[in-house]
Amino acid sequence: MRLLLLGATGRTGEHLLDLGLARGHHLTAFVRSPQKIARRERALTVVKGDPLQADQLAGALAGHDAVLSALGPSPRQAFRPSTMLSECAASTVAAMTTAGVERLAVVSAALLFPEKGLRFVLFRWLLEHHVRDLDAMEAVVRASRCDFTIARPPRLVDARDEGYRSARDALPAGADAMSFRAVAAFLLDCVEQRTHVREIVGLARGRDT
Ligand SMILES: NC(=O)c1ccc[n+]([C@@H]2O[C@H](COP(=O)([O-])OP(=O)(O)OC[C@H]3O[C@@H](n4cnc5c(N)ncnc54)[C@H](OP(=O)(O)O)[C@@H]3O)[C@@H](O)[C@H]2O)c1
Repeated sequence: MRLLLLGATGRTGEHLLDLGLARGHHLTAFVRSPQKIARRERALTVVKGDPLQADQLAGALAGHDAVLSALGPSPRQAFRPSTMLSECAASTVAAMTTAGVERLAVVSAALLFPEKGLRFVLFRWLLEHHVRDLDAMEAVVRASRCDFTIARPPRLVDARDEGYRSARDALPAGADAMSFRAVAAFLLDCVEQRTHVREIVGLARGRDT
């Protein structure tokens, strides 16, 4: 498949790149800092652009099968009011409409589930601005005509495991932390297998049986 990646220079994004290439896809990494991507492969095109600009995105999107987005705020941005994710979502769905691309898989966060555990309450409070932008981002995606999948993982860690458990509209039981790589694997599985279309999916470490 021809896949356009947003956030390819990030921690989830680097695994989208790695797994996407390993699975034989043709990838376009649409990034603001191309110099951050050292990989040189025939199946990888790096395009410099601003995901807030729908016209730039639409130009890069022509001929692609899907968009996979792992955009996220920098640590500094995360603690301040921001509309980066919701504005990027708006420009992405507008660009997809222009380019005739229907499939979108995007990373959100488990903090949007109404979990009441202490850790959830604490991080929802600490990251209130980020959570607000994620919520607005999801609203933009849900209101669009895209065939979207919104992934809500818990805390993410560096590890090589690719397995995950998934649940529609809920956090799988016992979800604590999982790997950036497993989130990337989930997004790729969804677009390859056309699963979880127009669904919000909670993720956890492990393996669906
Ligand atoms: N990390 C976690 O523990 C965790 C847990 C649950 C959910 N999530 C969600 O997963 C998503 C991805 O997280 P991550 O940790 O993989 O992200 P990350 O490593 O911080 O990477 C963020 C990506 O977004 C890009 N970006 C940031 N601001 C941008 C802007 N203004 N314009 C264009 N690109 C911009 C960055 O590009 P540059 O390289 O150019 O800065 C980078 O590619 C986040 O939305 C987060 O809510 C994360």
